Amino acid sequence: VSIEVVPDPERPRDDCGEQLKETPLPPRQPFCDIAARHKAYLAELREAAAQVLSSGNYVSGGRVKELETELCGFTGAQHAFACANGTVALELSLRALGIVPGDGVIVPAYTFIASAGAVSNVGAVPIFADVDRRTLNLSAATIEQALGLARQRPTHQAKPRAIIAVNIFGSPCEYNELREVAGKHKLKIIEDGAQSFGATYRGARSGTLGDVSACSFFPAKPLGGLADGGAVFCADGDVARQVRLLANHGYDPQEAEHTFVGTNARLGELQAALLSVALRHFPAQAERREEIARMYRSGLQEHFDLQDQPQGSTSAHAQFAVVVRGDNPEQKRQELINRLARLGIEGRQYYTKPLHLQRAFSTLGYQRGDLPIYEDLCRRVFNVPNDPFSVTPDQVARIIAALV
Ligand SMILES: Cc1ncc(COP(=O)(O)O)c(C=O)c1O
Repeated sequence: VSIEVVPDPERPRDDCGEQLKETPLPPRQPFCDIAARHKAYLAELREAAAQVLSSGNYVSGGRVKELETELCGFTGAQHAFACANGTVALELSLRALGIVPGDGVIVPAYTFIASAGAVSNVGAVPIFADVDRRTLNLSAATIEQALGLARQRPTHQAKPRAIIAVNIFGSPCEYNELREVAGKHKLKIIEDGAQSFGATYRGARSGTLGDVSACSFFPAKPLGGLADGGAVFCADGDVARQVRLLANHGYDPQEAEHTFVGTNARLGELQAALLSVALRHFPAQAERREEIARMYRSGLQEHFDLQDQPQGSTSAHAQFAVVVRGDNPEQKRQELINRLARLGIEGRQYYTKPLHLQRAFSTLGYQRGDLPIYEDLCRRVFNVPNDPFSVTPDQVARIIAALV
Protein backbone atom coordinates (compact mmCIF):
# COMPACT_ATOMS: atom_id res chain seq x y z
CA VAL A 1 0.00 0.00 0.00
CA SER A 2 1.38 3.38 -0.79
CA ILE A 3 0.23 6.63 0.78
CA GLU A 4 1.17 10.22 0.31
CA VAL A 5 3.00 11.46 3.35
CA VAL A 6 1.84 14.90 4.39
CA PRO A 7 4.93 17.05 5.00
CA ASP A 8 5.35 17.92 8.64
CA PRO A 9 5.31 21.73 8.99
CA GLU A 10 7.47 21.48 12.12
CA ARG A 11 10.35 19.85 10.30
CA PRO A 12 12.73 21.08 7.63
CA ARG A 13 11.88 19.34 4.37
CA ASP A 14 15.41 18.00 3.95
CA ASP A 15 15.31 16.27 7.33
CA CYS A 16 13.41 12.99 6.99
CA GLY A 17 10.38 14.19 5.05
CA GLU A 18 11.99 13.59 1.66
CA GLN A 19 13.20 10.15 2.61
CA LEU A 20 9.75 9.20 3.82
CA LYS A 21 8.18 10.31 0.58
CA GLU A 22 10.26 7.79 -1.34
CA THR A 23 9.18 4.81 0.73
CA PRO A 24 6.11 5.78 2.74
CA LEU A 25 4.86 3.81 5.71
CA PRO A 26 1.51 2.10 5.31
CA PRO A 27 -1.46 3.96 6.78
CA ARG A 28 -2.88 3.03 10.18
CA GLN A 29 -0.30 0.41 10.98
CA PRO A 30 -1.80 -1.66 13.84
CA PHE A 31 0.03 -0.93 17.09
CA CYS A 32 0.16 -4.64 17.78
CA ASP A 33 -0.65 -6.98 14.90
CA ILE A 34 -1.92 -10.09 16.63
CA ALA A 35 -3.45 -11.57 13.48
CA ALA A 36 -0.08 -11.33 11.69
CA ARG A 37 1.62 -13.00 14.64
CA HIS A 38 -0.75 -15.96 14.43
CA LYS A 39 -0.54 -16.14 10.65
CA ALA A 40 3.11 -17.13 11.05
CA TYR A 41 2.04 -20.45 12.61
CA LEU A 42 -1.60 -20.74 11.59
CA ALA A 43 -1.32 -24.37 10.46
CA GLU A 44 -0.01 -25.42 13.89
CA LEU A 45 -2.79 -23.50 15.66
CA ARG A 46 -5.42 -25.13 13.43
CA GLU A 47 -4.00 -28.58 14.11
CA ALA A 48 -3.91 -27.98 17.88
CA ALA A 49 -7.49 -26.65 17.87
CA ALA A 50 -8.71 -29.58 15.76
CA GLN A 51 -7.20 -32.06 18.22
CA VAL A 52 -8.98 -30.45 21.16
CA LEU A 53 -12.22 -30.23 19.21
CA SER A 54 -12.23 -33.92 18.39
CA SER A 55 -11.13 -34.96 21.90
CA GLY A 56 -14.43 -33.88 23.45
CA ASN A 57 -12.42 -32.86 26.51
CA TYR A 58 -12.55 -29.10 26.94
CA VAL A 59 -11.88 -28.37 30.61
CA SER A 60 -9.32 -29.82 33.07
CA GLY A 61 -7.78 -32.26 30.60
CA GLY A 62 -4.31 -33.12 29.45
CA ARG A 63 -3.64 -29.95 27.42
CA VAL A 64 -3.71 -27.72 30.48
CA LYS A 65 -1.35 -30.08 32.30
CA GLU A 66 1.00 -30.12 29.30
CA LEU A 67 1.01 -26.35 29.14
CA GLU A 68 1.77 -26.12 32.86
CA THR A 69 4.74 -28.47 32.44
CA GLU A 70 6.01 -26.44 29.46
CA LEU A 71 5.61 -23.19 31.39
CA CYS A 72 7.63 -24.63 34.29
CA GLY A 73 10.29 -25.74 31.81
CA PHE A 74 10.51 -22.30 30.25
CA THR A 75 10.41 -20.17 33.39
CA GLY A 76 12.22 -22.51 35.77
CA ALA A 77 9.29 -22.28 38.21
CA GLN A 78 8.62 -25.31 40.43
CA HIS A 79 4.86 -25.07 40.03
CA ALA A 80 2.57 -23.51 37.43
CA PHE A 81 -1.19 -23.24 37.43
CA ALA A 82 -2.80 -22.14 34.18
CA CYS A 83 -5.85 -19.99 34.89
CA ALA A 84 -8.53 -17.88 33.26
CA ASN A 85 -6.68 -14.52 33.05
CA GLY A 86 -4.02 -12.37 34.67
CA THR A 87 -6.42 -10.59 37.00
CA VAL A 88 -7.57 -13.82 38.66
CA ALA A 89 -3.94 -15.00 38.67
CA LEU A 90 -3.23 -12.03 40.95
CA GLU A 91 -6.31 -12.70 43.08
CA LEU A 92 -5.37 -16.38 43.49
CA SER A 93 -1.81 -15.35 44.39
CA LEU A 94 -3.01 -12.93 47.06
CA ARG A 95 -5.44 -15.39 48.58
CA ALA A 96 -2.98 -18.29 48.47
CA LEU A 97 -0.49 -16.17 50.40
CA GLY A 98 -3.11 -15.59 53.07
CA ILE A 99 -3.99 -11.99 52.27
CA VAL A 100 -7.40 -11.40 53.86
CA PRO A 101 -9.92 -8.54 53.86
CA GLY A 102 -8.51 -5.46 55.55
CA ASP A 103 -4.85 -6.26 54.85
CA GLY A 104 -2.80 -3.63 53.03
CA VAL A 105 -0.95 -4.41 49.80
CA ILE A 106 1.58 -2.03 48.27
CA VAL A 107 0.98 -1.50 44.55
CA PRO A 108 2.72 0.90 42.17
CA ALA A 109 0.27 3.45 40.78
CA TYR A 110 2.01 3.20 37.40
CA THR A 111 0.28 0.04 36.18
CA PHE A 112 -2.85 -1.35 34.58
CA ILE A 113 -5.79 -1.18 37.00
CA ALA A 114 -5.82 -5.01 37.45
CA SER A 115 -2.72 -4.89 39.70
CA ALA A 116 -4.60 -2.77 42.25
CA GLY A 117 -8.07 -4.05 41.35
CA ALA A 118 -7.08 -7.59 42.32
CA VAL A 119 -6.16 -6.29 45.79
CA SER A 120 -9.59 -4.66 46.18
CA ASN A 121 -11.31 -7.75 44.78
CA VAL A 122 -9.98 -9.92 47.61
CA GLY A 123 -11.12 -7.30 50.13
CA ALA A 124 -7.64 -5.97 50.84
CA VAL A 125 -6.61 -2.31 50.56
CA PRO A 126 -4.24 -1.03 47.87
CA ILE A 127 -1.47 1.15 49.30
CA PHE A 128 -0.37 3.07 46.24
CA ALA A 129 3.35 3.70 45.81
CA ASP A 130 5.30 6.01 43.54
CA VAL A 131 7.83 4.63 41.05
CA ASP A 132 11.48 5.23 40.36
CA ARG A 133 11.89 7.86 37.64
CA ARG A 134 14.39 5.79 35.65
CA THR A 135 13.06 2.24 35.92
CA LEU A 136 9.36 3.27 36.04
CA ASN A 137 9.00 0.50 38.65
CA LEU A 138 8.80 0.27 42.44
CA SER A 139 12.02 0.78 44.38
CA ALA A 140 12.93 0.40 48.06
CA ALA A 141 12.66 4.19 48.40
CA THR A 142 9.18 4.42 46.89
CA ILE A 143 7.96 1.50 49.04
CA GLU A 144 9.29 3.20 52.19
CA GLN A 145 7.60 6.47 51.11
CA ALA A 146 4.28 4.67 50.58
CA LEU A 147 4.52 3.10 54.04
CA GLY A 148 5.37 6.53 55.50
CA LEU A 149 2.39 8.15 53.79
CA ALA A 150 0.10 5.36 54.99
CA ARG A 151 1.23 5.90 58.57
CA GLN A 152 0.33 9.61 58.41
CA ARG A 153 -3.17 9.24 56.97
CA PRO A 154 -6.10 7.97 59.05
CA THR A 155 -7.66 6.54 55.86
CA HIS A 156 -4.58 4.40 55.15
CA GLN A 157 -4.34 2.30 58.29
CA ALA A 158 -4.51 -1.19 56.73
CA LYS A 159 -1.64 -3.35 57.95
CA PRO A 160 0.80 -3.84 55.05
CA ARG A 161 1.25 -7.53 54.28
CA ALA A 162 2.50 -7.73 50.71
CA ILE A 163 3.94 -5.94 47.69
CA ILE A 164 2.68 -6.35 44.14
CA ALA A 165 5.86 -5.88 42.12
CA VAL A 166 4.74 -4.95 38.61
CA ASN A 167 7.36 -5.35 35.87
CA ILE A 168 5.98 -2.48 33.89
CA PHE A 169 6.30 -2.71 30.09
CA GLY A 170 8.07 -6.05 30.63
CA SER A 171 11.11 -4.70 32.49
CA PRO A 172 11.86 -6.35 35.86
CA CYS A 173 11.95 -4.42 39.11
CA GLU A 174 15.21 -4.32 41.07
CA TYR A 175 14.24 -7.44 43.03
CA ASN A 176 17.28 -7.57 45.32
CA GLU A 177 16.28 -4.15 46.63
CA LEU A 178 12.62 -5.17 46.89
CA ARG A 179 13.47 -8.38 48.75
CA GLU A 180 15.50 -6.41 51.29
CA VAL A 181 12.70 -3.97 52.04
CA ALA A 182 10.15 -6.81 52.05
CA GLY A 183 12.28 -8.70 54.58
CA LYS A 184 12.58 -5.62 56.76
CA HIS A 185 8.79 -5.07 56.89
CA LYS A 186 7.78 -8.77 56.73
CA LEU A 187 6.01 -8.37 53.39
CA LYS A 188 5.40 -11.07 50.80
CA ILE A 189 6.25 -10.27 47.18
CA ILE A 190 3.78 -11.04 44.42
CA GLU A 191 5.40 -10.59 41.05
CA ASP A 192 2.92 -9.08 38.59
CA GLY A 193 4.54 -10.50 35.49
CA ALA A 194 1.51 -9.87 33.28
CA GLN A 195 3.74 -7.90 30.90
CA SER A 196 7.06 -9.62 31.47
CA PHE A 197 6.86 -13.24 30.31
CA GLY A 198 10.36 -14.08 29.07
CA ALA A 199 12.14 -11.28 30.98
CA THR A 200 15.07 -12.18 33.21
CA TYR A 201 16.59 -10.77 36.39
CA ARG A 202 20.10 -11.93 37.34
CA GLY A 203 19.66 -15.21 35.52
CA ALA A 204 16.14 -15.97 36.82
CA ARG A 205 13.09 -15.70 34.61
CA SER A 206 9.94 -13.73 35.25
CA GLY A 207 7.62 -16.18 36.97
CA THR A 208 10.23 -16.96 39.63
CA LEU A 209 10.95 -13.49 40.99
CA GLY A 210 8.35 -13.23 43.76
CA ASP A 211 7.03 -15.51 46.49
CA VAL A 212 4.26 -16.03 43.97
CA SER A 213 4.11 -14.76 40.38
CA ALA A 214 1.12 -13.95 38.22
CA CYS A 215 1.16 -13.81 34.45
CA SER A 216 -1.33 -12.83 31.74
CA PHE A 217 -1.73 -14.44 28.32
CA PHE A 218 -4.10 -11.75 27.03
CA PRO A 219 -3.64 -11.80 23.23
CA ALA A 220 -1.49 -8.64 23.08
CA LYS A 221 0.92 -9.76 25.82
CA PRO A 222 4.42 -11.06 24.96
CA LEU A 223 3.07 -14.62 25.18
CA GLY A 224 -0.49 -14.13 24.00
CA GLY A 225 -3.27 -16.64 23.48
CA LEU A 226 -6.39 -16.35 21.36
CA ALA A 227 -8.55 -15.35 24.33
CA ASP A 228 -8.00 -14.47 27.97
CA GLY A 229 -5.60 -16.64 29.91
CA GLY A 230 -3.11 -16.45 32.75
CA ALA A 231 -0.89 -18.42 35.09
CA VAL A 232 0.28 -18.49 38.68
CA PHE A 233 3.84 -19.63 39.39
CA CYS A 234 5.45 -20.45 42.70
CA ALA A 235 8.16 -22.53 44.37
CA ASP A 236 6.22 -23.51 47.50
CA GLY A 237 4.19 -26.72 47.11
CA ASP A 238 1.64 -25.72 49.78
CA VAL A 239 0.97 -22.40 48.07
CA ALA A 240 0.65 -24.18 44.72
CA ARG A 241 -1.86 -26.61 46.20
CA GLN A 242 -3.84 -23.74 47.70
CA VAL A 243 -3.95 -21.95 44.32
CA ARG A 244 -5.29 -25.12 42.67
CA LEU A 245 -7.96 -25.56 45.34
CA LEU A 246 -8.99 -21.90 45.24
CA ALA A 247 -9.38 -22.01 41.46
CA ASN A 248 -11.57 -25.12 41.49
CA HIS A 249 -14.21 -24.35 44.15
CA GLY A 250 -12.00 -25.58 46.98
CA TYR A 251 -12.42 -29.13 45.71
CA ASP A 252 -9.81 -31.54 47.00
CA PRO A 253 -9.83 -34.69 44.82
CA GLN A 254 -8.03 -36.73 47.50
CA GLU A 255 -10.70 -35.98 50.07
CA ALA A 256 -13.44 -35.89 47.40
CA GLU A 257 -14.79 -32.81 49.14
CA HIS A 258 -15.08 -29.06 48.82
CA THR A 259 -12.81 -28.08 51.68
CA PHE A 260 -13.71 -24.37 51.45
CA VAL A 261 -15.53 -22.05 49.07
CA GLY A 262 -13.27 -21.13 46.19
CA THR A 263 -14.11 -20.05 42.68
CA ASN A 264 -13.82 -21.21 39.09
CA ALA A 265 -10.68 -19.69 37.59
CA ARG A 266 -9.65 -22.52 35.25
CA LEU A 267 -8.19 -22.20 31.79
CA GLY A 268 -9.88 -24.17 29.00
CA GLU A 269 -8.20 -26.94 27.03
CA LEU A 270 -8.48 -25.07 23.73
CA GLN A 271 -6.60 -22.03 25.02
CA ALA A 272 -3.99 -24.26 26.65
CA ALA A 273 -3.35 -26.08 23.36
CA LEU A 274 -3.07 -22.79 21.44
CA LEU A 275 -0.74 -21.32 24.07
CA SER A 276 1.53 -24.36 23.79
CA VAL A 277 1.92 -23.57 20.09
CA ALA A 278 2.58 -19.89 20.84
CA LEU A 279 5.19 -20.85 23.45
CA ARG A 280 7.16 -22.83 20.84
CA HIS A 281 7.44 -19.69 18.71
CA PHE A 282 8.01 -17.34 21.62
CA PRO A 283 11.86 -17.34 21.75
CA ALA A 284 12.20 -16.26 18.11
CA GLN A 285 9.65 -13.49 18.60
CA ALA A 286 11.36 -12.31 21.78
CA GLU A 287 14.61 -11.94 19.84
CA ARG A 288 12.91 -9.73 17.27
CA ARG A 289 11.40 -7.58 20.04
CA GLU A 290 14.87 -7.24 21.53
CA GLU A 291 16.29 -6.12 18.19
CA ILE A 292 13.61 -3.44 17.83
CA ALA A 293 14.21 -2.26 21.40
CA ARG A 294 17.95 -2.01 20.71
CA MET A 295 17.24 0.17 17.69
CA TYR A 296 14.92 2.47 19.63
CA ARG A 297 17.41 2.68 22.47
CA SER A 298 20.37 3.67 20.34
CA GLY A 299 18.33 6.08 18.21
CA LEU A 300 16.37 7.81 20.97
CA GLN A 301 18.53 7.82 24.09
CA GLU A 302 20.21 11.16 23.36
CA HIS A 303 16.89 12.91 22.92
CA PHE A 304 14.56 11.26 25.45
CA ASP A 305 14.66 9.48 28.79
CA LEU A 306 14.16 5.75 28.32
CA GLN A 307 13.22 3.04 30.82
CA ASP A 308 16.32 1.78 32.67
CA GLN A 309 16.59 -1.94 33.29
CA PRO A 310 18.28 -3.16 36.48
CA GLN A 311 21.80 -4.50 35.99
CA GLY A 312 21.83 -8.10 34.84
CA SER A 313 18.22 -8.03 33.67
CA THR A 314 16.48 -8.28 30.31
CA SER A 315 13.07 -6.88 29.46
CA ALA A 316 10.27 -8.70 27.65
CA HIS A 317 9.58 -5.35 25.91
CA ALA A 318 5.82 -5.67 26.15
CA GLN A 319 5.87 -1.97 25.28
CA PHE A 320 8.61 0.55 24.55
CA ALA A 321 8.25 3.73 26.62
CA VAL A 322 9.64 7.14 25.66
CA VAL A 323 9.82 9.95 28.25
CA VAL A 324 9.75 13.52 26.97
CA ARG A 325 12.29 15.83 28.65
CA GLY A 326 12.04 19.52 29.61
CA ASP A 327 9.21 22.04 29.87
CA ASN A 328 5.74 21.74 28.32
CA PRO A 329 6.03 17.95 28.11
CA GLU A 330 2.36 17.39 27.30
CA GLN A 331 2.49 19.73 24.34
CA LYS A 332 5.76 18.18 23.09
CA ARG A 333 4.35 14.68 23.51
CA GLN A 334 1.24 15.57 21.54
CA GLU A 335 3.37 17.07 18.76
CA LEU A 336 5.41 13.86 18.56
CA ILE A 337 2.32 11.68 18.53
CA ASN A 338 0.88 13.89 15.78
CA ARG A 339 4.09 13.53 13.81
CA LEU A 340 3.80 9.74 13.99
CA ALA A 341 0.11 9.89 13.07
CA ARG A 342 0.99 11.70 9.86
CA LEU A 343 3.15 8.70 8.98
CA GLY A 344 0.32 6.29 9.67
CA ILE A 345 1.95 5.25 12.95
CA GLU A 346 0.17 5.18 16.27
CA GLY A 347 1.89 6.49 19.39
CA ARG A 348 0.02 5.42 22.52
CA GLN A 349 -0.26 6.69 26.06
CA TYR A 350 -0.57 3.92 28.62
CA TYR A 351 -1.59 4.58 32.25
CA THR A 352 -1.24 8.34 31.94
CA LYS A 353 -4.42 9.13 33.88
CA PRO A 354 -3.12 8.81 37.47
CA LEU A 355 -4.57 5.55 38.79
CA HIS A 356 -4.63 6.61 42.46
CA LEU A 357 -6.74 9.65 41.52
CA GLN A 358 -9.32 7.79 39.44
CA ARG A 359 -12.88 7.37 40.72
CA ALA A 360 -12.45 3.61 41.19
CA PHE A 361 -10.12 4.34 44.11
CA SER A 362 -11.62 7.62 45.36
CA THR A 363 -12.56 6.09 48.73
CA LEU A 364 -8.86 5.62 49.47
CA GLY A 365 -8.46 9.40 49.70
CA TYR A 366 -5.33 9.92 47.60
CA GLN A 367 -4.63 13.48 46.53
CA ARG A 368 -2.74 15.06 43.66
CA GLY A 369 0.86 15.45 44.74
CA ASP A 370 0.89 12.21 46.78
CA LEU A 371 2.91 10.35 44.11
CA PRO A 372 4.83 13.17 42.41
CA ILE A 373 7.13 11.12 40.16
CA TYR A 374 4.34 9.07 38.59
CA GLU A 375 2.11 12.14 38.32
CA ASP A 376 4.89 13.92 36.43
CA LEU A 377 5.55 10.87 34.23
CA CYS A 378 1.86 10.87 33.31
CA ARG A 379 2.54 14.13 31.47
CA ARG A 380 5.66 12.86 29.70
CA VAL A 381 5.46 9.19 28.71
CA PHE A 382 4.25 7.74 25.46
CA ASN A 383 4.77 4.38 23.78
CA VAL A 384 5.98 3.66 20.29
CA PRO A 385 5.04 0.48 18.42
CA ASN A 386 7.53 -2.34 19.01
CA ASP A 387 5.57 -5.41 17.96
CA PRO A 388 7.74 -7.26 15.42
CA PHE A 389 4.63 -8.16 13.42
CA SER A 390 3.54 -4.55 13.28
CA VAL A 391 6.81 -2.73 12.53
CA THR A 392 9.88 -3.88 10.62
CA PRO A 393 13.39 -2.68 11.57
CA ASP A 394 13.26 -0.42 8.52
CA GLN A 395 10.06 1.19 9.78
CA VAL A 396 11.52 1.55 13.27
CA ALA A 397 14.39 3.52 11.73
CA ARG A 398 11.83 5.84 10.12
CA ILE A 399 9.94 6.27 13.38
CA ILE A 400 13.18 7.22 15.11
CA ALA A 401 14.00 9.69 12.35
CA ALA A 402 10.58 11.28 12.76
CA LEU A 403 10.94 11.66 16.53
CA VAL A 404 14.42 13.12 16.88
C1 LIG B 1 0.40 -5.16 34.78
C2 LIG B 1 -0.83 -5.97 34.54
N1 LIG B 1 -1.35 -6.69 35.54
C3 LIG B 1 -2.44 -7.46 35.36
C4 LIG B 1 -3.08 -7.53 34.15
C5 LIG B 1 -4.34 -8.34 34.03
O1 LIG B 1 -4.27 -9.34 33.08
P1 LIG B 1 -5.60 -9.85 32.33
O2 LIG B 1 -5.97 -8.80 31.35
O3 LIG B 1 -5.17 -11.13 31.69
O4 LIG B 1 -6.65 -10.07 33.36
C6 LIG B 1 -2.57 -6.82 33.07
C7 LIG B 1 -3.24 -6.92 31.75
O5 LIG B 1 -3.31 -6.03 30.98
C8 LIG B 1 -1.42 -6.01 33.26
O6 LIG B 1 -0.89 -5.30 32.26
